[in-house]
Amino acid sequence: MKIEYFDDSGSSRGYYSTANRVNDLTGKEWLFWTRSVITKVYPPNIQHRLRQQHGGQKPPELCADLIKIFTKKGERVLDPFMGVGGTLIGASLSGRRALGVEINKRWIEIYGQVCRLEGMDELDTIAGNSSEVLKDLLKNKIDNEFFDMILTDVPYWNMDRAERSKGKFKKAGEKAREVKKSKLSVFNSEIYSTKEDWLLKIVKIIELSSKLLKPDRYLLIFIGDMYYKNSYHCLSSELAERVSRIDGLVWKANIIWYDVSKKLHLYGYQYSYIPSMIHQNILVFRKEK
Ligand SMILES: C[S@@+](CC[C@H](N)C(=O)[O-])C[C@H]1O[C@@H](n2cnc3c(N)ncnc32)[C@H](O)[C@@H]1O
Repeated sequence: MKIEYFDDSGSSRGYYSTANRVNDLTGKEWLFWTRSVITKVYPPNIQHRLRQQHGGQKPPELCADLIKIFTKKGERVLDPFMGVGGTLIGASLSGRRALGVEINKRWIEIYGQVCRLEGMDELDTIAGNSSEVLKDLLKNKIDNEFFDMILTDVPYWNMDRAERSKGKFKKAGEKAREVKKSKLSVFNSEIYSTKEDWLLKIVKIIELSSKLLKPDRYLLIFIGDMYYKNSYHCLSSELAERVSRIDGLVWKANIIWYDVSKKLHLYGYQYSYIPSMIHQNILVFRKEK
């Protein structure tokens, strides 16, 4: 059966099919979100200045849009790397429930402050290392503790030590300019000795999370690629390849989010091409078997 849906201003949203098992979107809306690139602008809001202390926060409205593509109202989302709560706020904005796990209590406190200032209900959070917390959840789980979606944003490899230039460019023949630590360094509590170590730790937590996901549902991972020590690190494809090896998970899409807020850089000007990283990848997996 098809039902016509209307938005708050009375305009037609298109037709929703009662056979839709994935989300509450109409056919027209579903088609819109099949785009593999998201160019929609998400202005800095919802206590952005407060959340910005984190440095790796994601726009809650972007998270809400993703949650609406992969869940129905009232369903439950897990974020094992919650930071200051982009996923959790996105879940609240879209009428879903969520649980976030975060190793650094400071970020959970900021999430709590944001909720109080915005008059939002605080969703469930657990302070701790996901590699332990998720094992406990798995041990004690009962049927209604499974999740309908996982939406997460993994900590970056090597960002604790990655350095960036001061924003000025080096001309041909000039000595390298002074560098400073990446702002992203502030949010990483865990140290990853090598890229392999980073991959192993992240994949372990993704694997544990996937065991808490209901069959046929989706797991989404935000991951930025990196330019480091003179070469491009396609972390998204490296991570996707590893996650695809997890039993039951099938890689379905790589959505590119064009982050219009990112500044352009002239690193390498006149002597070497270095890209300005203004996109993030959103890897989409489905639990099938
Ligand atoms: C990229 S940030 C997530 C940002 C988040 N999307 C937001 O909007 O704020 C990754 C977060 O994972 C946390 N983290 C790193 N390792 C963790 C672990 N083993 N268990 C739980 N949290 C962890 C970091 O402290 C960091 O806040």
